[in-house]
Amino acid sequence: MNTLKIERHDRVVTVRLHRPHVLNALSSELLAELLDVLRPLDSDPGVGCFVVTGSEKVFAAGADIKEMAGKSAVDMAAEDYFAGWEEFAGFRTPKIAAVNGYALGGGCELAMMCDLIIAGESAVFGQPEIKLGVIPGIGGTQRLTRLVGRAKAMDLILTGRTMDAGEAETSGLVSRVVPDDRVLTEATEAAATVASYGLPAVMAARESVDRALETGLRDGLLFERRVFHALFATEDQKEGMSAFTEKRAPVFKGY
Ligand code: CAA
Repeated sequence: MNTLKIERHDRVVTVRLHRPHVLNALSSELLAELLDVLRPLDSDPGVGCFVVTGSEKVFAAGADIKEMAGKSAVDMAAEDYFAGWEEFAGFRTPKIAAVNGYALGGGCELAMMCDLIIAGESAVFGQPEIKLGVIPGIGGTQRLTRLVGRAKAMDLILTGRTMDAGEAETSGLVSRVVPDDRVLTEATEAAATVASYGLPAVMAARESVDRALETGLRDGLLFERRVFHALFATEDQKEGMSAFTEKRAPVFKGY
């Protein structure tokens, strides 16, 4: 493994991006290693949450510019460059981004593929691709617009300016801002909490929330209600509600 460091504590797997010489630029090798590591873990019932983080200075400064620079349009299309990131985005396991420092370009897009973003006070977010003569290519124009709205997305993507953690939080991009030295702890604690719940309910919750970004209210409400009904087929629902009635902590089985 050249580009990542992996740790597992109980039901939480932490992936640390590790290409310090290029500020964790997201190369094809990094993506391939990320998918190779997480693919089997995503179907492991013993894993309940992923945490993705970088270093204290940088989450990721974007896609690897030096890797892309010499490619032609035909190369990019033939490789379907960046397409593999959709597999990462589609993992069923919840993902929490723990962001310190720069989350630029593909780094911001990677954070947005996660379900929660927990940022340090000195985190910096942006989509500066316009300065390179291109546009965001791993979802920046789509996910950022859905998360922060057209006005803010246009500002960031057209001017290439960055925003600090406070602006990212008030814009709705970031779930929580904490002191820099608390980011990984806070993210790991949140991950352990999510991982302690039953997988069917966690998957249903994520999919229902994300549905709100993809569909109209009537269809979204119907989707939510049907998924809610379906959860009554799980033992976890019986256990969760019995435990409440019996005034004890539930023990979820994940089915
Ligand atoms: N790709 C490849 N290498 C990168 C990189 C990237 N995205 N970002 C930084 N590096 C390299 C630098 O080239 C430099 O390498 P050398 O030491 O060999 O010169 C090293 O990392 C350290 O970088 P800096 O000296 O620039 O560090 P800094 O602290 O002065 O500046 C920074 C930090 C403001 C983040 C600056 O590095 C920067 O602007 N990086 C590029 C940000 C960017 O444009 N991101 C978008 C990339 S395109 C993209 O992501 C497309 C997409 O939609 C997926």
